[in-house]
Amino acid sequence: MKKIVIFASGAGSNAENIIKYFENNANVEVSAVLTNKSDAGVLKRCAFLKKPALYFNRMAFEDGVVAGVMNSLKPDLIVLAGFLWKIPKDFIKDFKNKIINIHPALLPKYGGKGMYGVKVHEAVKNNFEKVTGITIHYVNENYDEGAIIHQAKVSLSKNDSIHDIANKVHALEYEHFPKVIEKILLGHG
Ligand code: GAR
Repeated sequence: MKKIVIFASGAGSNAENIIKYFENNANVEVSAVLTNKSDAGVLKRCAFLKKPALYFNRMAFEDGVVAGVMNSLKPDLIVLAGFLWKIPKDFIKDFKNKIINIHPALLPKYGGKGMYGVKVHEAVKNNFEKVTGITIHYVNENYDEGAIIHQAKVSLSKNDSIHDIANKVHALEYEHFPKVIEKILLGHG
C-alpha cells in the first residue's frame, strides 16, 4: 500500500477531492492530513470524511517535530494542496523527491513568494492573459521552482471575473491532481 500525507492551509477542496479519489483504491491510501492553521476549513472536511488530521505550529515545523511525525507515518508522497508555508530546508532534504505541490497558474509565470490562491488569479486577470492553468511540481528550497511534473491549461475570456478564473483553475486541479499522484505512486493514473 502506497501512503500519502496531505498538507493544506485553507478550505481543503483539493484535499477532499484527493481523499475521495483514493477512498476505494486498494493500492493507495491517504494516511493523514496536516495543517498549519487551526481554523482551516480542511479540518472540518476531514472530520466529515473521517480522516485523521493534525494541526501544527511553526515551531513544530521548524524544529523537526513534523518531520518526526512523517518518519512515523512513512508516506511515499507528501502532497501540498494549498499549503502556504515555505518548507524548511532540512525537511526538504529528509524527504527529497517525495514532496509535490500544486500551483494555480502556469509556472514559471505567477509564482514565487506571496503568489497564492486568489492573488494569482488577480494577477492573471490584470495582465489580460488569454490562458491560465495549473502546475504540479516537485518542491525544492525555492517557492514554485522545483521540477515540473505536469501542467494543464484553460482558456480565459475577457469577461471572466476573478471568481470565474478561480473556478476554471479549480476544475483543472480536481481533474488532474489525483491522477498525477496516482501516476507517480503506481506508474499509471
Ligand atoms: C488551490 O487552488 C491551490 O492551487 C492553491 O491554493 C488553492 C487551495 O484551494 N495553492 C497555491 O496558491 C500555492 N501557491 P483548496 O484549499 O480549496 O484546495
